[in-house]
Amino acid sequence: MHDLAHIAGKYDTDKAVHTSYLRNYENYFDGLRADAVRLLELGIKEGGSLYLWRDYFERGLVIGLDVEAVRLDDPTGRIRTYQGMQQDTQLLDRIARENAPDGFDIIIDDCAHIGVLARASFWHLFERHLKPGGVYVIEDWGTGYWDSWLDGVTYRRGRKELNPALYRLTRIIARAQQHTFVGRLPLAGWLLSRVKALVVGAQYCSHNYGMVGFVKELIDELGAADITHPQRGVGAPRTSKFRELRISPSHLFIIKS
Ligand SMILES: C[S@@+](CC[C@H](N)C(=O)[O-])C[C@H]1O[C@@H](n2cnc3c(N)ncnc32)[C@H](O)[C@@H]1O
Repeated sequence: MHDLAHIAGKYDTDKAVHTSYLRNYENYFDGLRADAVRLLELGIKEGGSLYLWRDYFERGLVIGLDVEAVRLDDPTGRIRTYQGMQQDTQLLDRIARENAPDGFDIIIDDCAHIGVLARASFWHLFERHLKPGGVYVIEDWGTGYWDSWLDGVTYRRGRKELNPALYRLTRIIARAQQHTFVGRLPLAGWLLSRVKALVVGAQYCSHNYGMVGFVKELIDELGAADITHPQRGVGAPRTSKFRELRISPSHLFIIKS
């Protein structure tokens, strides 16, 4: 048995140069190596990463999707490829039906790296075609910080030290929100809530564009229990659909509950 870096070095895949990616993959995948995993990768270029997964998971079935036609030489018959768009949900359903009717164990998005496309395929595949306990990986989410990228926007640094005036204002609004008088005037409650959102929001130098915006939406899903908290939140109470979200530089892993 060889480790992932050794196998990656044999093939034409950019995963070979991302040593931190390979380390992350080994952390999550090592325990699955002997299993007959069903793995789907979105975005396959010349197919190098499919050979890598085929060799690493010796009993695995490896499926790839790319907008370009990709011809592979695979005598094992354990690699299958499809041509199409990552956001084509009907095609994703067909791929799942033909290869993993009980769900995929692993799905990797190394495709367009465009927030709205990654998000469309993520929610479709995560909800319908990833097994409970399955792993969904997203590569290169940092493209959202590049202005030269289709939906990326340059990150502007903001001040990180406390702004005492805005903090005091936040406290005043929060106290007013708890006043029984406000409870009797729905419009006042709504107005205070909007003003607080503006004042609090102005104190963070965050960025919600492209893949970065999508990653922040994933953090919201982790917060589902608080978002729907019976006393403090809104909507029907529920827990997160994620057991774990681990974010590394430009690489993230989600484990389905
Ligand atoms: C970074 S490369 C994939 C590299 C490969 N996973 C590897 O590790 O060697 C991205 C691939 O995504 C494909 N792609 C880009 N946008 C796409 C889309 N919307 N749907 C399907 N494939 C797309 C490109 O054709 C390209 O081959």
